[in-house]
Amino acid sequence: MQNLRTLISTAPMAPPFLIVAIDGGAAAGKSTTARALSARFNLLHVDTGSYYRAITAELLRLGVAVDDAVAISSTAASLTLGTRVDGRRARIEIAGREIEETELRGPAVNAAVSHFAAVPAVRAALLAYQRDQARIAREHGFAGLVMEGRDIGTAIFPDADFRFFLHADPEERARRRAAEGQQDSIAERDRIDSTRKASPLQCPPGATGLDSTHLSLDEVVTRVSAPIAARLGAAA
Ligand code: DC
Repeated sequence: MQNLRTLISTAPMAPPFLIVAIDGGAAAGKSTTARALSARFNLLHVDTGSYYRAITAELLRLGVAVDDAVAISSTAASLTLGTRVDGRRARIEIAGREIEETELRGPAVNAAVSHFAAVPAVRAALLAYQRDQARIAREHGFAGLVMEGRDIGTAIFPDADFRFFLHADPEERARRRAAEGQQDSIAERDRIDSTRKASPLQCPPGATGLDSTHLSLDEVVTRVSAPIAARLGAAA
């Protein structure tokens, strides 16, 4: 008994499975930050914006109109969602099909995604699926997951180990999107995302807010990494 106790007390503690939530408006720096955290701490990177984009592309492909709430709800509820782990990134499949990145980031999806994302049935179709990404991360041997979106710290993982909310001035965010060569009406999407009834974009209570307007993305990553590294006992 004595030996067993000694063994247990001296055995190295398994590091906890870590959940990091990053929310914020379009082009606030979420993806760059999430990718960097994923690489540094061995976390599965889940970009939930790409999930809403994939559902949007599928609804558009099926001819569902952005203002047809009945068709949106019934079609969204009927979709079969799967996940492919691609390196450190989780990618959504709809009925076994993955949608090309160029289509996900194209003007048709940019213009429609906030309208579809405001429909409760679309959010409901993704709720359990998003939470289940933690199981997938564990199964693939990741130390945790970093999930970015609009409602991760408020609705998907309100008990996440770390919750961050990134923001930046609209002009700076528009400049970042233009530098990526994207046509995207960020201000309009943010307006729809933050005023919808179902899980609006907002800083989760108790989350760490960070204004990235005057910071380089490297500086954002450094600031967000520090408390995680401290918790894990790694060098910041
Ligand atoms: O992060 P993004 O710009 O690719 O997201 C595209 C849209 O998806 C965004 O305008 C609103 C919606 N979205 C959402 O409603 N909830 C999330 N958790 C992530 C994205």
